[in-house]
Amino acid sequence: MNNNDILPWVEKYRPKRLDDIIGQEPIVKRLKYFVQQRSFPNMIFAGPPGVGKTTSAIAFANELYNFNLRGNFKELNASDERGIDVIRGAVKEFAKITSLSDIKLKIIFLDEADALTTDAQHALRRTMERYSAETRFILSVNYSSKIIEPIQSRCVVFRFKPLTRDEVKRYIQKIAENEKLIIDENAMQALIDVSNGDLRNITNILQSIAIISNKIEVDNIYEIAAKVKPVELSRMLKEAVEGKFNDAKKDLEKLIVEYGISAEDLLKELNKELTNAVYIDDYNKLKILEIIADTNFRIVEGANELIQLDAMLARIASLKIV
Ligand SMILES: Nc1ncnc2c1ncn2[C@@H]1O[C@H](COP(=O)(O)OP(=O)(O)OP(=O)(O)O)[C@@H](O)[C@H]1O
Ligand SMILES: [Mg+2]
Repeated sequence: MNNNDILPWVEKYRPKRLDDIIGQEPIVKRLKYFVQQRSFPNMIFAGPPGVGKTTSAIAFANELYNFNLRGNFKELNASDERGIDVIRGAVKEFAKITSLSDIKLKIIFLDEADALTTDAQHALRRTMERYSAETRFILSVNYSSKIIEPIQSRCVVFRFKPLTRDEVKRYIQKIAENEKLIIDENAMQALIDVSNGDLRNITNILQSIAIISNKIEVDNIYEIAAKVKPVELSRMLKEAVEGKFNDAKKDLEKLIVEYGISAEDLLKELNKELTNAVYIDDYNKLKILEIIADTNFRIVEGANELIQLDAMLARIASLKIV
């Protein structure tokens, strides 16, 4: 068995070089320039999950240090390395190691940096300054706004975009070819729908289905993704907005009973649908968002889920938007 066979696909298909990264062109271009210059600033990689932040950091380091990351690149996770003291200690130890590379700058990749409290971020900022002669930081975050201004102003911020449908498709095709998966056009579109531009998610879904069969079927995709079948979800919202309460309620029941979606996931997905719904004006989007948020709160507080979701549809329907 070759080593690649036991790797999770997210690792197996993680691009090793900048050239293999899909999309994110402006960022890749800048990173290549930094490699060429052999010098680079502190950076913040901001963006949604599974779009290449960690991948880009590793690919960048691979090219910079000629694939020799030991002693040059250290990955820390801000949310599991409890507290800034642990991070500070790790940074200090790492900075001490003599690098074998001719590039004297080491990289500390701090994943989920937006999980750090403000106090921890201030401490981090001091650490960044203290070791600025020998280390550069790359902070990975979902929202750059969660990073304090003094850190932001010391970093170049790169905003990673959700991948387009074409880009997601290209990625899926690469895996399909390599793993000999059979994916017809319907299944392909369904995969792209459930991916939400998150390639990690899609990689895991593909690997889970491939264990069962190399033919990827639409039904399996939704089952495995345990996600909303977008037709029903977007239709439910539209029907509610149009005041068709009974139709919306039927779709809701299907989503909950047949697809087994949890109320919380459903509200999350509905929120996304709402953001993308072009037929609702901004004012009404705000009104609906308030209703969704209120429903979420009640459910979290323990109110009956089905009743609350029904009531949510009733409230949206009674807005009389259309
Ligand atoms: N732009 C991309 N090009 C090619 N593959 C990608 C890209 N983005 C993500 N992937 C694939 O998805 C997997 C997860 O990506 P990555 O770890 O870079 O996500 P991330 O942006 O760091 O997400 P998170 O915020 O959850 O940490 C990778 O192993 C790779 O297989
Ligand atoms: Mg990551």
